[in-house]
Amino acid sequence: MERVAIGTERAPDVIVVGGGAIGLACALTLAATGRRIVVLERGRTGAEATHAAAGMLSPIGEAVGPDPLLWLGLDSLARWKEFAAELETDSGVGVDLRFDGKLLVARDLASAQSLRKRKAWISEAGLDAEWLEAPEVALREPAVDGAVAGLFLPQEGQVDNRALARALRIVVEQSGCSIREGSQVAELDVVGGHTRGVRLIDGTRLACDLVILAAGAWSGHVAGLPRPLPVRPVKGQMLALETGATAPFVRSVVETESCYVVPRSPDPGSPTHEVRAWVGATSEEVGFTRGTTSEALESLRTAAVTIIPSLTRARVIDAWAGFRPGTPDGCPVLGRDPDVEDLVHATGHYRNGILLVPITGHLCRCAVEGHGDARLNSFRPDRFGS
Ligand code: GLY
Repeated sequence: MERVAIGTERAPDVIVVGGGAIGLACALTLAATGRRIVVLERGRTGAEATHAAAGMLSPIGEAVGPDPLLWLGLDSLARWKEFAAELETDSGVGVDLRFDGKLLVARDLASAQSLRKRKAWISEAGLDAEWLEAPEVALREPAVDGAVAGLFLPQEGQVDNRALARALRIVVEQSGCSIREGSQVAELDVVGGHTRGVRLIDGTRLACDLVILAAGAWSGHVAGLPRPLPVRPVKGQMLALETGATAPFVRSVVETESCYVVPRSPDPGSPTHEVRAWVGATSEEVGFTRGTTSEALESLRTAAVTIIPSLTRARVIDAWAGFRPGTPDGCPVLGRDPDVEDLVHATGHYRNGILLVPITGHLCRCAVEGHGDARLNSFRPDRFGS
């Protein structure tokens, strides 16, 4: 296929399909190699799962056991400090990175029992987790009510995911990448096992040497993939509360079996400087059905108030829903496609998209440059069969 120039720009070496935090991070690391990059985003950059996320950096809290995803998450967590510092310096946008820990709270004996099991494998894996009896939970987080026990994960944190999207966009553009919003990729052009470019839904064909598939929950909708990609939307509804106070109501993220509560800094534009809380999240298999429901939001609000009664006075200031890119095993799909040359996958990050931004950018570059990374074996694109 002819290499088609986009506007006045030269044809790119790489097309990144998807302009969420993952796609932008991949674009950024590849731009550093001198390649010409175009990011094609079906809507607006960072407006889907990146916008809807809670911003938690919680590899242990989200893990089901000491599996490859945990180690990937811990590697990414370790990269966040440097990644955020560079991003903030280069973009001029603060991303409010914090490592204030996460407190998992059990409110009954069954849930305490499951926390004990969690503590056992975390300790066996050589990771930090502090077991707290009820009075110790009260000492750590006086606002938390009704705890039977708790498990504190000191190294976990959070980042302002929406500021992250703004910052990434700025640095990606600064690095010379071109971003085209409203450009939905319908199909990959694959000839003889090689990716030659993409076709947009309006019929436009764009040539490139390499495609990075980073379209989140929509990744499996791109035609021309060598096998079905079982990435599905898992809807999450969330709400934001303004607490009516300027002092933090909890220090760390607090999570029960019914919800998590993420203390967020005041909205920079807010005249009252009230501390906010983000409460999440549902996990729904409803396809791409957009919007929130009053039942889900009320149940999240009730769960938050039950664990932190002072939130009774908080006002609901916002509610939203997003689509996590879920996979059959809950792990991302990463690395070079074994059957189509010049196609690299960076998708399926499910509940850990924000956490995995730095490591995905790094591994994407490894995959493109042909530097083997053994970790990629666990996340192979063909592991679900055909
Ligand atoms: N990582 C939190 C969520 O997906 O709800």
